[in-house]
Amino acid sequence: MNAKKKKNVCSFRKMKENGEKIVAVTAYDAPSARFADEAGVDFLLIGDSMANTILGYENTLPLTIEESLFHCRAARRGAPDAFIVGDMPFMSYQISCSEALRNAGRYIKEAGCDAVKLEGGSYAVAVIERLVTAGIPVIGHIGLLPQQVLAAGGYKIAGKTPEGVKILLEDAKAVEEAGAFCVVLEGIPAEVSKQITESIKIPTIGIGAGIHCDGQVQVLGDLLGLGDFLPRHAKRYTDISQVIGNAIKQYCLETRNGEFPGKENSF
Ligand code: KIV
Repeated sequence: MNAKKKKNVCSFRKMKENGEKIVAVTAYDAPSARFADEAGVDFLLIGDSMANTILGYENTLPLTIEESLFHCRAARRGAPDAFIVGDMPFMSYQISCSEALRNAGRYIKEAGCDAVKLEGGSYAVAVIERLVTAGIPVIGHIGLLPQQVLAAGGYKIAGKTPEGVKILLEDAKAVEEAGAFCVVLEGIPAEVSKQITESIKIPTIGIGAGIHCDGQVQVLGDLLGLGDFLPRHAKRYTDISQVIGNAIKQYCLETRNGEFPGKENSF
């Protein structure tokens, strides 16, 4: 019998204290959530990256809260015992703390999430505090913020200047003090992530932030080879698009030459 114990917010802090790496991956549907959970990841992120990786949007900005919740519910059905984090879409938490609280509550009550993630350092403090006070666990997200792509004029690595490093250190501290139980570090030089990781007690989960983070999160499609483009921070562990393409080609061939359906597929 699988005696895997369900994680909770305290599990991640303990893992940091024990020097155990935390492994997270995105999942957007029931089968991928089940595969990732059974493979032993520590938490599933139902990332807003679903917008550009599986829903065909150009970036994460158009994703609606309804779309995000729909995929969170699917992931929860696929992995009933996983620690699941819902990623709050652009404009679902920026307008006011009350609106952020109402929306974050939907991830817990309607989608069965264990926590939410939202982007932003010092400027997200009030929202994080409001959610945490209400009993909603929050993962912060600092560094390269995909929801800021228009304002930043692109996806830019953060912390490349002494001033940038100072801002990141302040952001990490602010997010920790606001009550977040983990913080994602995205697109940050490895040595800067090291400084951040050593300066706070909550775990840092890196994506494009080097080896020194307390854990890593990756976009599942990048690991599997689903997209045409592989970001530098990602590693392709298999080429699933080729597997899928070949299987469909074979099905076309066998249907056209009369091999499929065979006797064993018929009644
Ligand atoms: O949506 C996502 O996949 C994310 C990761 C980049 C951390 O937020």
